[in-house]
Amino acid sequence: MFKAIILIGGPLKGTRFRPLSLEIPKPLFPVAGFPMIYHHIAACCQVKGLKEIILIGFYQPNDALNKFIISAQQEFKIQIRYLQEYTALGTAGGIYHFRDQILTGNPQCFFVLNSDVCGDFPLQDMLDSHKKNPDGSIGTVLATEATRQQSLTFGCIVEDQNTHEVLHYAEKPETFVSTLINCGIYLFSPLIFQTLEKAFKSNLEENYNFDFNIPSKEVIRLEQDVLIPLAGDGKLFVHQTKRFWSQLKSAGAAIYANRHYLAIYQRTGSKQLAKNGENKPQIIGDVFIHPTAQVHPSAVLGPNVTIGRHVVVGEGVRLRESIVLEGATLQDHCCILYSIVGWHSTIGVWSRVEGTPNDPNPNKPFAKLEIPSMFTTDGKLNPSITVIGSDVQVPSEVIILNSIVLPHKDLAGCYKNQIIL
Ligand code: GTP
Repeated sequence: MFKAIILIGGPLKGTRFRPLSLEIPKPLFPVAGFPMIYHHIAACCQVKGLKEIILIGFYQPNDALNKFIISAQQEFKIQIRYLQEYTALGTAGGIYHFRDQILTGNPQCFFVLNSDVCGDFPLQDMLDSHKKNPDGSIGTVLATEATRQQSLTFGCIVEDQNTHEVLHYAEKPETFVSTLINCGIYLFSPLIFQTLEKAFKSNLEENYNFDFNIPSKEVIRLEQDVLIPLAGDGKLFVHQTKRFWSQLKSAGAAIYANRHYLAIYQRTGSKQLAKNGENKPQIIGDVFIHPTAQVHPSAVLGPNVTIGRHVVVGEGVRLRESIVLEGATLQDHCCILYSIVGWHSTIGVWSRVEGTPNDPNPNKPFAKLEIPSMFTTDGKLNPSITVIGSDVQVPSEVIILNSIVLPHKDLAGCYKNQIIL
């Protein structure tokens, strides 16, 4: 029997996803019509013998999370639980803290998935390759190739080419180590708890203080406190993937993930994508339209567009590479390109909302999506996806270009490369 843990973080995380993460916990932000972690759960449910999914985070229990868990349990017919850390315990602290719940039922091994990555996760293949590791092996890390320059912003792995053992691991190294990077997806045997216990005790001792007012540090970092010590010990192995994988830390990354998850629906037929037909809008490429949305037949959508619940799309509207969230209204003849339109916002007639993608360089093999810093060195906003926050009114006949609009704004004119507070 197997289990999976999804690390969902907490309210202080997801800052690069603002203002969208102000409205709902970032792991619930919808991409390709479903919350980010829905795609993780769907991937877990493909693994034969996987019996339970545990979400670990430090969000207070909330309505959105509860509703999501109930509906995912019903859809996937699997037990899903949320376990709340009393404070941020780090990427491995929660796993150690909730070890009894994780080990209940004697799982042979369990997956750990970061929620802020997206991809076509080859979990069954990982499990098959994990089973071939020598006895006493503790874990398998999913890895992918990045460019030399990009690798510096990830966890870098040096492997034995023949055995796939992790020989060396460096988290965000200052100088080049390896182009093989950690995808934030792991498979561990219960033996990992011995390593976690060691890390827990040594961190506790190191940080112990005799002041009752300062809590002792129970944080364990999976990368630094677990992967680094295990590397080179014959216990940690790599499974390399060439499939789609990216970090999901910004609005630009959400547009990129949207495109790839829609392509997975197309390939697997797992979700109903919109089709062309009489009295239907013109569909180009992969487009997902929620059944409750109303789209005028003269609208042209795609490629890579997701239209959420109860969205209204007017006459002659043009959309491409965009996500329109629940309850938004796109009035006649507006044009939305490389943008996210927030919950219950309205875009006026003949207006144009446009962003700039930061797609991986197609001429560089293994290039991953760039997540550029928000500002240039001279303090200007770096061009990126346009994000219209929730409940924003964009008037008629204006252009909003490469901008971020905070929630509840009533805009009065055109904006370019601005954050509208
Ligand atoms: P950054 O580039 O600095 O964001 O680092 P990173 O990509 O390694 O991400 P980070 O380690 O912050 O988070 C990895 C995953 O673990 C994300 O899905 C987070 O939501 C989650 N996470 C981070 N810290 C915690 C924590 O204290 N508790 C829990 N349960 N999850 C966490």
